Amino acid sequence: MDSFRIRGGNRLKGKIEISGSKNSALPILAACLMAEGKTTLKSVPRLSDIDSMNKLIGELGCHIYRHESPASADLPALDGPLDIEVTDEKNCEARYDIVKTMRASICVLGPLLAKRGKAIVSIPGGCAIGDRPVDLHVRGLQKLGAEFRTENGNIVGEVRGKLKGCRMYLGGAQGPTVLGTINVLCAAALAEGETVLVGAACEPEVVDCAEMLIKMGAKIKGHGTPEVRIEGVDRLVGIEHRIIPDRIECGTFLVAAAITNGELELKHCNLDHLVAVVDRLDEVGVKIERQNGTIFVSSSRRLNPVEMTTQPFPGFPTDLQAQLMALLCLGDGMSVITERIFPDRFLHVGELNRMGGRIRKEGPTAIIQGVKELQGASVMASDLRASAALVLAGLVAKGQTQIDRVYHIDRGYEKIEQKLAAVGADIERVKEK
Ligand code: EPZ
Repeated sequence: MDSFRIRGGNRLKGKIEISGSKNSALPILAACLMAEGKTTLKSVPRLSDIDSMNKLIGELGCHIYRHESPASADLPALDGPLDIEVTDEKNCEARYDIVKTMRASICVLGPLLAKRGKAIVSIPGGCAIGDRPVDLHVRGLQKLGAEFRTENGNIVGEVRGKLKGCRMYLGGAQGPTVLGTINVLCAAALAEGETVLVGAACEPEVVDCAEMLIKMGAKIKGHGTPEVRIEGVDRLVGIEHRIIPDRIECGTFLVAAAITNGELELKHCNLDHLVAVVDRLDEVGVKIERQNGTIFVSSSRRLNPVEMTTQPFPGFPTDLQAQLMALLCLGDGMSVITERIFPDRFLHVGELNRMGGRIRKEGPTAIIQGVKELQGASVMASDLRASAALVLAGLVAKGQTQIDRVYHIDRGYEKIEQKLAAVGADIERVKEK
């Protein structure tokens, strides 16, 4: 298992190219199971989670080909377009081996039921950020007429005849579900008649998937709002689509500039997807300016303490909670963070405290007393975003930080150490012997 070794203290300065969104690309790859003919996806990031999804849809009969793209003069090479074409529809099973490494495997459930009338998907267990049920996915698909049973740890779904559109409420106790909305949206695209999803997730990743389905021939209106209307069609066809920029990667680099008192130019991002993040960072004292698709970020030495609660879009995303916490460790006073999406998502607290942070957790809330400096330490990556927070802390900590188990970071950040090193960070990957 690889580690990162970071020597903190360098001010970051320069340009970083933001990759395509992991969380958009994953369900979009699954949705390709429904199209006839070749789909070409651009800006699919090269990540281990994408490799897992490719392996899964490969097993489900897709032929996948990745074109290579050359490196540009001053930026590391990002990856070329991906061609996907369904060549065999016999297999309908997402095996435990793949699902256990990546929960987003659940995204094949709706597309398989809609296109092949059958799906067997291993039930994803809990994960490092807490108990993550899939009941809302199943309930939504049941309302479209799919029948479910559990068998040997699998969800087995079947459709007699065709799925049928209906009006349904899709929200749960913690609010809307992102991948659940996408699963039902995909299935409804090929169902008979009209489906109305009330309480749908409004995240940009839902909108991106809906936009791609529309290009494929789907009839969808209202995506990006809590009420989405889908008029079912008979078939979807392969198209070309560019994945939206990764708003979480972009937010992570905004914090990287702020925490190192640096100046970064972030290329290919959409600040409209980060309004709540910009709002909180503005209050912290971080200066963010936009010019076309490029964001310029810089910060002053004094970081104001703030309060923040994670919420569904357009609120502050849970996927940037850990990174903001790393920054607030150096705030000039006491900050308060409340996690409303995944109340147990605080694995980074103990590790940040090992680096000199003063964070106290009370239920779903963390109280962060700002300190003058963080110190380098050996820490452990536990989940994707918690690990990103440790990288950020390492960039500013005094001395050396070693982060073990960085495979968690490789799941979601494309070439992170190369991108950071190119703007002045002292970071290296230490390969396992
Ligand atoms: C997506 O997960 C993202 N994953 C997560 O990013 C992200 O944290 C999350 O949305 C919230 O924004 C991908 O897109 C691959 P949810 P998802 O269903 O869709 C509860 C990362 O780090 N819920 O919107 O699985 C659930 O427990 C990852 O990149 C149910 O109760 O999340 C949570 O409290 C981690 N029943 C809330 O809803 C269900 O059936 C929102 O979860 C489904 C969800």
